[in-house]
Amino acid sequence: MPNYIELPPALTGVPCRIVAMVGKWFPTGCHKVGASFGCLAPRLVTGQFDVNRHKAVWPSTGNYCRGGAFNSRLMGAQGVAILPAEMSQERFDWLHEIGAEVIATPGCESNVKEIFDKTWELKKDPTMMIFNQFAEMGNPLWHYNVTGYALAELFEAVKKPGQNFAGACFTSGSAGTMSAGDLLKERYPHLKLAVGEALQCPTILDNGFGGHRIEGIGDKHIPWIHNVKNTDMVIDIDVTAAAGIKSFWVTIDSEALKDLLPVINMPEKFDICDIPADLAAILHDEFGFPINEQVKNQTAVMFSITKFVEILLEIPGEHNFVLDVTDNNNVLTHKTVKLIVKAAE
Ligand SMILES: Cc1ncc(COP(=O)(O)O)c(C=O)c1O
Repeated sequence: MPNYIELPPALTGVPCRIVAMVGKWFPTGCHKVGASFGCLAPRLVTGQFDVNRHKAVWPSTGNYCRGGAFNSRLMGAQGVAILPAEMSQERFDWLHEIGAEVIATPGCESNVKEIFDKTWELKKDPTMMIFNQFAEMGNPLWHYNVTGYALAELFEAVKKPGQNFAGACFTSGSAGTMSAGDLLKERYPHLKLAVGEALQCPTILDNGFGGHRIEGIGDKHIPWIHNVKNTDMVIDIDVTAAAGIKSFWVTIDSEALKDLLPVINMPEKFDICDIPADLAAILHDEFGFPINEQVKNQTAVMFSITKFVEILLEIPGEHNFVLDVTDNNNVLTHKTVKLIVKAAE
């Protein structure tokens, strides 16, 4: 059975069981060694990649190139790792130790464009064989056939009577792991497949972009290999404000909810840093949202939307939640979260 950890409700705040597989025992300490093998294998067996003639180039935000460098070393090939300069020192040290050539491109986690630019430059040299995880089908094939089956096996091993595989969530970088969800949806047709990204770089949610520090994910574009038609939802819930949150206004903009709000004594607009007791009973006790001191002056706030979505699912329509967060330096961040509920057929 694959290695896994189960995250308890005391930590997650949700009653369902959340289980995550652990990549720690892969030779590089993470799952990306599989994706790099998936991209390498077709070129090896078709004879396109010649260890004696080519260098293997691994464009990455930090972990894929480790997998690639590891595989290159095993084959006696020269590996070339491309990764953003702001990745952790640990990654750079590891790559040097394993004998890879290392190219640091400008920027952080979300600067994948700069990595691609470097790749185009290297491509002019015919001895450079590029293994582009964002475009090569070997990457999703690996995750469909290996990660997907491993997750299904894990679920079957840990499930208790009456429990369902309700959903699978993958934070996407190249979107290779997302294809494990394709296999799971075939096996468990009711399962919902979610993709996670940083709210600071809300590409899938909002066609937006920005820098963030979640290494491995979120990079201002939707990769060719992301089977978006099979992805049910995107999760962007993190809010950070380095100077501390001063106010957090929520405006509910929804035709369908307009008449309902007064019935439950809920205003269309409120500041969740300043919630009176009667509204607290709904927002906090009923919906489970953080309010007042749980938000004010905090630098990050987590919203669990499980309870709220359950209620909202009963009300078909397009529900917009406009969020205006002002920090203690008076910097305003404005975002809209849109939830579309379709009427049951
Ligand atoms: C730690 C970590 N998590 C998630 C991902 C995203 O995986 P994928 O590229 O398969 O979407 C990566 C990719 O580099 C990663 O390094």
